Formats: sequence, C-alpha cells, structure tokens
Amino acid sequence: MRIGFVGTGTITEAMVTGIVGSSLDVTDIVVSPRNAEIATRLARRFPPVRIAKDNQDVVDASDVLFLAVRPQIAKEVIGGLAFRSGQRVVSVIAATDRAKLLNWIKEDVDLTQAIPLPFVAGREGVTALYPPHPEIAAIFAALGSTVECETKEEYDLLAAASALMGTYFGILDRSTDWLVEKGLAREKARAYLAPLFASLAQTAVKAEATPLDTLRREFSTPGGLNEQVFEDFDRNGGSRALAGALERVLHRVRG
Ligand SMILES: NC(=O)c1ccc[n+]([C@@H]2O[C@H](COP(=O)([O-])OP(=O)(O)OC[C@H]3O[C@@H](n4cnc5c(N)ncnc54)[C@H](OP(=O)(O)O)[C@@H]3O)[C@@H](O)[C@H]2O)c1
Repeated sequence: MRIGFVGTGTITEAMVTGIVGSSLDVTDIVVSPRNAEIATRLARRFPPVRIAKDNQDVVDASDVLFLAVRPQIAKEVIGGLAFRSGQRVVSVIAATDRAKLLNWIKEDVDLTQAIPLPFVAGREGVTALYPPHPEIAAIFAALGSTVECETKEEYDLLAAASALMGTYFGILDRSTDWLVEKGLAREKARAYLAPLFASLAQTAVKAEATPLDTLRREFSTPGGLNEQVFEDFDRNGGSRALAGALERVLHRVRG
C-alpha cells in the first residue's frame, strides 16, 4: 500500500510515526513538501518516507490519500488537485463536511472522514471514522482503535467529544494549582494527580461493560469524600457547564 499526505503538519507527523513500525504493509509514504521542516524530519527518520514535488505528486503516488491541511485553506488546496475516480481519500480536516469535500474534489472518490488524535504516533489513538470503511478502519486500528460512525450525526458528536482534551488537562491543571496554593510543591501535586487520572481512565477502558455511573459510585464511598466532591461539582453547575460547552462546540462542528 502507498500512502500519501497533503499537508505535512502535526497530525501527519503523528500518523506517519505510528504507521512506520506498525503491522501495516506500507511500502511508500509520500508527504507534501509543506511544512518543509516536518517533511525533512520524517524523510530523515523513516526510510519509506519520500517528500513529493508538490501536492499533485502526492495524489498521483497514493493508493490511500490523506488530506491534512487546515480548514481555512482546504477549498483552495483541494480544488486545485486532480483525483482519480474511485481513489481512496481520507479527510482529517476538522469541521469540513463530506458534501463540501466532494464538491471541491469533483471526482467520484471513495471518501472517508476521520478524527485521528496525536496518540496515533504511539499507536494508542482512538479514531472516529465516517462512513464505516473496513480498509481505512484497519489502518487506524493499527494505530490504536477505531469507532466507525454510521451517520454524520454520530460523527459530529464524536468530533464535539474530541474537544474535551483541553478540559482534561485544564481540570488537572486547576486541581494542581489549588494544591500548590494550599502549600504543596507543584512537582508533588503533579506526581500524584497525573497517575491518578491515568489510572481512572484505564479503569474506564478496561471495565467497558460497567456503566460509568456505576464506576463513579464504586469509587465513591456513600457519605465519603469522593461523593461530596461530585455532588458539589454537580450542584454548583459543573455538569451544566460541561453539557453547555459540548452543545456550543457541536453547533460549531455542524457548521
Ligand atoms: N493536530 C491534531 O491533533 C488534529 C487532530 C485531528 C484533525 N486535525 C486536523 O488536521 C488538519 C491539520 O492539522 P494540524 O494540527 O496537523 O495542522 P498544522 O500543524 O498546521 O499542519 C498543516 C500543514 O499544512 C501545511 N500547508 C499549508 N499550506 C499548504 C498547502 N498549500 N499544501 C500543502 N500543505 C500546506 C502547513 O505547512 P506550513 O507550516 O509550511 O504552512 C502545515 O504544516 C486540520 O484540518 C486539523 O483540523 C488535527
């Protein structure tokens, strides 16, 4: 399989890093010359990586083509390229729906949308896909796992959920700040909280059949400290603020 990337930025670097050394049978990886620094770094690190002459060279050299430019320039970049009928194209461009992409591509391509996360570099990223596509799902499964969406509505909901990453670190950061204000050294606060959060996340992944509400109760003694913190969070608008933020981001994702 020959894989190409139009747009050699942060997420392309993560995907290429994950693909090289994965179980995938990839013979060639072609990246666009921009960004020059990242393209050069990838070509130096990984023998299968070649820097294309230009974006069209990437399209021509790819069995599976990833579109990974920023949404602001997507129309201009995609509209200037000639695709092959039936070519497998994967757009990872945020907030740019299928109808728009197909309109710009003009050719009858086999288009999938995906939301890879930076963790694909370590082959631990979960990737949302729309619509379901066994071959593209297999690529992302090799980079972690996939959740295939049957509808645009499902896909948009996961796109909104992917915007929770900053809040995860934000809660970690705010909690660390509070511990520091109370007199704990920052390194100690972080050394305690980061593994605590990681263990909780691992528990949710491993106990996939257990409802999250049950996990919350299992980790909260009735009348205890954990129950008190969640009740305070919920009563004082924490859950409402979270749902409101997700609603707003969903609105933006839907365009
Ligand atoms: N980062 C993430 O975690 C993530 C996750 C999922 C989806 N995405 C989506 O993936 C896309 C890329 O995100 P990113 O974070 O990788 O952004 P990025 O780091 O800015 O990468 C985009 C790259 O596109 C290059 N570029 C600019 N003009 C170009 C052109 N005409 N032809 C080809 N390449 C061109 C830029 O090169 P220069 O530096 O030379 O301008 C830049 O390096 C976005 O649509 C984003 O929404 C990102």
